Amino acid sequence: MPNPYISGTGFYLPPRIVTNDELSTYMDTSDEWIQERTGIKERHYVEKGEGPSDIAIPATKQALNAAGLKVSDIDFIIFATSTPDFYAPGSGCLLQEKMGFNEIGALDIRVQCSGFIYGLSIAEQYIRTGTFKNILLIGAEVQSTAMDLTNAGRDTAIIFGDGAGAAIISATDEDRGVLSTHMHSEGKYLKELWLESPASNAGYPRINKEALDEGKQFLKMNGKEVFRHAVTRFPEVINEALEANNLTSENIDLLIPHQANLRITQMVQKRLSLRNEQVFSNIHKYGNTTAATIPIALAEAFNEGKIKDGDLLVLAAFGSGFTWASAIMKW
Ligand code: UT7
Repeated sequence: MPNPYISGTGFYLPPRIVTNDELSTYMDTSDEWIQERTGIKERHYVEKGEGPSDIAIPATKQALNAAGLKVSDIDFIIFATSTPDFYAPGSGCLLQEKMGFNEIGALDIRVQCSGFIYGLSIAEQYIRTGTFKNILLIGAEVQSTAMDLTNAGRDTAIIFGDGAGAAIISATDEDRGVLSTHMHSEGKYLKELWLESPASNAGYPRINKEALDEGKQFLKMNGKEVFRHAVTRFPEVINEALEANNLTSENIDLLIPHQANLRITQMVQKRLSLRNEQVFSNIHKYGNTTAATIPIALAEAFNEGKIKDGDLLVLAAFGSGFTWASAIMKW
């Protein structure tokens, strides 16, 4: 059976940088408060007219280049985003057209912060069964247009940013690649981090003035509750991956956690007794880009020489749904 491994990575952040000081001009907040509570210094926002499928293009080109593959070598597209360009069709179809992929399958998945790992688990199955040889897996988000940039939204708006990451999942006969993936959900907490409108259950028409006046088009988060669950679920799902492979946290060369909040990452590190060099963080530059944080971090860590052949890598995510997931791989 072929093994699924990551043959190339890439990432892209739109050029516009939004600093904490800029946010402080829209709402009552400060650089000091944001850095102390989240570790974030700045994030990137797209310009009007750009969607996740647009910012996915440069990330995909880099990943293809790194893998030494052409557009025509890709057999399937998995596009993880919680902020699709349109309600329908999915961003995967848009990317297929914009980049001239063959008439291959394009699957959007909406599992928010866990999207990249859920996508990896789908790619893993297709590679192991021999169905596909090279799969493009994207995590791309435009969160900026779902932020309430007023005092009412300040607890959420300071966290999120836009960005895209891409990975090519390829088949190999070598003893490397994904060892296992683990996924969970708990829908009873859906309203702790959700975006209500547009909604098909909202009556006719789906979008109405009343909903807009109530700010239902903005992402809403109960930060404290999300934080409380995150610091439990991250270690739990990381341990699940380690135990499934008879490994311990000492075996981890690099943990790439979903970049939700630096304080969450630090608590996870402490609970797993990991050294600083075992944990990757870049949230200070990009904020939380939801499904894109892991592929961006993966590409950046690789480019910085922090991932080498044979390394044991763990990916872990927690977010809206709630959903949480982990993946473990030998690079
Ligand atoms: O991708 C996964 C999804 N998201 C997460 O993982 C995020 C998880 N949660 C968090 O990161 C944190 O809960 C936040 C950073 C969102 C908030 O930090 P916190 O330490 O939980 O603060 P808090 O919500 O308890 O608020 C503390 C105080 C409040 O004032 P009072 O009631 O104590 O007077 C807030 O009104 O800070 C106030 N506050 C702010 N002050 C300045 C809330 N947001 C801001 C702000 N600037 N942006």
